[in-house]
Amino acid sequence: MALLALTGAAGRIATAIRPRLRAAGHRLVLCEGPGVEVADVDDSLERVVEVDLRDIDGQAAAFAGADLVAHLGAYSEEQAWADLLSVNVDGTRAVCEAVRLAGVPRLLLASSVHVAGFVPVDSPSLREGMPLPAPDTYYGVTKAALEALGALYAARFGITVVSARIMTFADDANGQPSRCCWLSPDDMTRLVTAVLTTDATGHHVVWGVSRNTRRLVDLSPGRAIGFEPQDDAEAYARGGGADDRGPESRSGLLGGGFTQPDYRLGEPHGGQ
Ligand SMILES: NC(=O)c1ccc[n+]([C@@H]2O[C@H](COP(=O)([O-])OP(=O)(O)OC[C@H]3O[C@@H](n4cnc5c(N)ncnc54)[C@H](O)[C@@H]3O)[C@@H](O)[C@H]2O)c1
Repeated sequence: MALLALTGAAGRIATAIRPRLRAAGHRLVLCEGPGVEVADVDDSLERVVEVDLRDIDGQAAAFAGADLVAHLGAYSEEQAWADLLSVNVDGTRAVCEAVRLAGVPRLLLASSVHVAGFVPVDSPSLREGMPLPAPDTYYGVTKAALEALGALYAARFGITVVSARIMTFADDANGQPSRCCWLSPDDMTRLVTAVLTTDATGHHVVWGVSRNTRRLVDLSPGRAIGFEPQDDAEAYARGGGADDRGPESRSGLLGGGFTQPDYRLGEPHGGQ
């Protein structure tokens, strides 16, 4: 049983994995920005800390004694450049610094498929290994910076860092998970557990994706840190034809509509 600190604790992913981590007996430090409510806190296992992502000292205090920090806090979609730079890049550097100051040995960084949105879906680098960054948005650029920070802090300070290029996280409740790109809550929890228990050292970039029959990417980088996803969107998806691989297949690029000329950089939802 371990002590895990989560940033972005009120967000979609943290909210979905918290009960699963508690059920495994872990204690959680729930870091969230000031004034943002974290719902359904179990006081016997969870403690909320109000702290901004850019507050190094506040986060170092919150992370004290943690076995793992899962950095989920962010602007999680396209925004003005200055805002993304502040929260996603300065914020991630502050999280890395806080992890170092607190002596936390393991760090999971939430990267995104948008770091590689301009990679063609038929690229060999998706079938085997991990492509270089080819961001489709300013948001994707900030995730490339996040991965670079992860590499720096792993190499310089010996922290085990995993940057997970999360594809499409969703609860299965609506029965329509993305067939190729779904990351289920149980598999996200398996990813956190893998980072907590892996013998691997250094920095690893993995795909945050379930074992979908129609997946476009290689599971072996995740396997190298002990991440073995189990869920398959086919078992949950309703409707859809055999060629239903989502917008990625229509554009021919991993980032789908985010790569298209009418998607405007720096505007929430691409100005649409
Ligand atoms: N949901 C997905 O499908 C998906 C896909 C790819 C990557 N990701 C990444 O995974 C992570 C979690 O995603 P999510 O869907 O839970 O995001 P979310 O937007 O639901 O949650 C992000 C959280 O970060 C917090 N936050 C934002 N600015 C902050 C600040 N300055 N200080 C402190 N907290 C701040 C927000 O209050 C929010 O609770 C994000 O980094 C996101 O970019 C998510």
